[in-house]
Order: sequence, then C-alpha cells, then structure tokens
Amino acid sequence: MEHPPKYTADNLTTIQSFILQEARRHPNASGEFSWLLSAIALAGKVIAAKIRRVHLDPVLDIGGDNVHGEQQKPMDLVANEIIIRCLGDRTDLGLLGSEEEAEPVQLRSAEEGGKYSVLFDPLDGSANLGLGVGVGTIFSILRHEQALDAEAPHLQIGRKQVAAGYILYGPSTVLVLSTGRGVHMFSLDPAVGAFVLVRSDLKIPSGGKTYSLNEANADSFGSGWGDWLSGCRRTGWRSRYIGSMVADVHRTLLEGGVFAYPRTARHPEGKLRLMYEANPMAFLIEQAGGRGESGTGPILNIRPTHVHQRVPVILGDPVGVDQLLNTLRR
Ligand code: AHG
Ligand code: MN
Ligand code: MN
Repeated sequence: MEHPPKYTADNLTTIQSFILQEARRHPNASGEFSWLLSAIALAGKVIAAKIRRVHLDPVLDIGGDNVHGEQQKPMDLVANEIIIRCLGDRTDLGLLGSEEEAEPVQLRSAEEGGKYSVLFDPLDGSANLGLGVGVGTIFSILRHEQALDAEAPHLQIGRKQVAAGYILYGPSTVLVLSTGRGVHMFSLDPAVGAFVLVRSDLKIPSGGKTYSLNEANADSFGSGWGDWLSGCRRTGWRSRYIGSMVADVHRTLLEGGVFAYPRTARHPEGKLRLMYEANPMAFLIEQAGGRGESGTGPILNIRPTHVHQRVPVILGDPVGVDQLLNTLRR
C-alpha cells in the first residue's frame, strides 16, 4: 500500500476523507467504526446550526431539571435527540449512554449486530447557552468485544476507548478527535458544510501557566489545593475559567496548564461524569502527551460501575499536573 499522505497545510482534508484514510490503515476494518464517526460529525453540524438560533427560537432556551437534579435546557434535549437520530441508523451501534438519559438506551443486542457503545454529553456547559459562551458535545466510543471483564460492554475503563472527542460550538465550530493515533482538530466551514482538518497530531504545550477551576469552591477542595493555588499566584500563573468543560479543556489542550474539578462540599465525589466527560477528555489529553488524573491515579484506569458516576478531574500538561500532584501529596 502506498505511503499514507503526509498532512500538509495545503491539503484540503475533510473529516470524511480523514476517517476513510484512517480506516484504510486497518485493512480488516469493515468501515462500521468510520460510519459511527461520520454520524457524530453530522450531529455536530446540526447542533451547531440549532445553537446559532438559541435566541431566535425561544423554545430552545427555557429549562426543567434532568435526572441529576440539574437545570435542564430544551437545547440539552434537542441536542440529545439530534445525536440519537444521527446515530440511530448506524446498524453496528448497540447502546447509547447519554447524560440526558436516566438509563442507557439499548438499540441492538450483540445478536442483532450491536458492536459499539457511544457515551455522550450532548450539550456540555449548557448553563452558558444563552450567554454567548462556548458550549460543546463530548463523545466516547467503546467496542463491545473489548469488554472482557468489564461490568458491562458500555462500562469499560477509559483506556479501552476506541475513539473520543468533542465538538466546541464557539466563535468557530471545531471537532477534536482521537482514534488512538494522536489528536486531530477540524474546523467547520459553514460555506461548504464540511469539517476541515486544521491541526493534525496536536501536542499539549508543556509548562503552561494557566490554571482553570472554580475557585469559589476552594475552601472545600481538600488539603494541598490551597498551597498549590498560592504557589501558582506567586509564580505568575493566570486564572481562566469559562465554566464549560469543553471550552476550558480545549484551551488547556492548545495552551497547556491545568484544568481541574476537584471534590467539593456540594460534589464530594467530584461533579464531572466519568463515562462521558472525564474519560473522553482524559483520552484526548493523554493522546496529546498530557495527563488525566483523578487525584488517586489515572482517570483512564478507573473501573466504571455506573454510567453517570462522577469523578474528580485534573487534566493538563505533564509538568503542571505533576507539580499539582506533588503538592497534594505533601
Ligand atoms: P453540563 O452542562 O453538561 O452539565 O456540564 C457542566 C459542567 C462542565 O461543563 C463544567 O466544567 C462544570 O459543569 C462547571 O461547573 P461549575 O459551574 O460548578 O463550576
Ligand atoms: Mn457536561
Ligand atoms: Mn450536558
């Protein structure tokens, strides 16, 4: 087989051609996995179009409460529906686990061809929705044949993910993806409706001096955090906190530094969900050369027990994360 093309600035590579090129690297791949990824890219385009109208179609911006007792916006449900409708006809999809679904949705048994689970946060940061601040979709793909000793095919450790990524609906709509061979970033060109490759094999810069966490909760973070924060302030770090995980992690991926959501009084086990927030983001950050930690070990090694379980999160470049962990361990 000829050498795969080297991605250069002047190649116009869309996510579709990228996925097909990746599929060709696995001669025995049947294309089913690529088909799932293309459904997620389609959902991203549809959700992006809806989000642009959140002030124009008021029905998108009034709320209720979800299974977590959190204020739920119809756009959470609209995004959830869009993803389910885009993925629903992918005949290899066995199970969907969504933040907005109390229980995972079984689409097909193994006998009916269900081979993958897709876990997702359809709209992350939705509290920011009407404020013009970046919000996103986070997704994680698990292959059932890898489940082995897992509790269930959709509850495998994060290291087993076959793909993970997010779509950030910000000044531009970007899709960041890893299938285990580096991290690649695509930007939606609305003129042609295609996600175009803009960065390939992204690596997190080491030694970034930005910390990103909700300091309003600092009194209940636990021992060591206060020392770390004052150390950051003393050594010229800056604070940036958007309050949408996708936006805060995207900045951390591009600039380095540390994003964290530690245990708090309100969320003693952490606020962020393992299966569709922490695991996909930790997968990406590790693929980019960074670290994803819970405070007691790598996030990707945590054995899941429930689709909505929460976990403390520390994500960032290796220098920043090591410095934080060393301070916490004192
Ligand atoms: P979601 O909108 O999917 O519920 O996620 C919100 C999360 C995450 O995006 C963000 O990092 C965190 O909530 C912010 O929480 P605080 O407002 O407590 O800081
Ligand atoms: Mn979220
Ligand atoms: Mn959400």
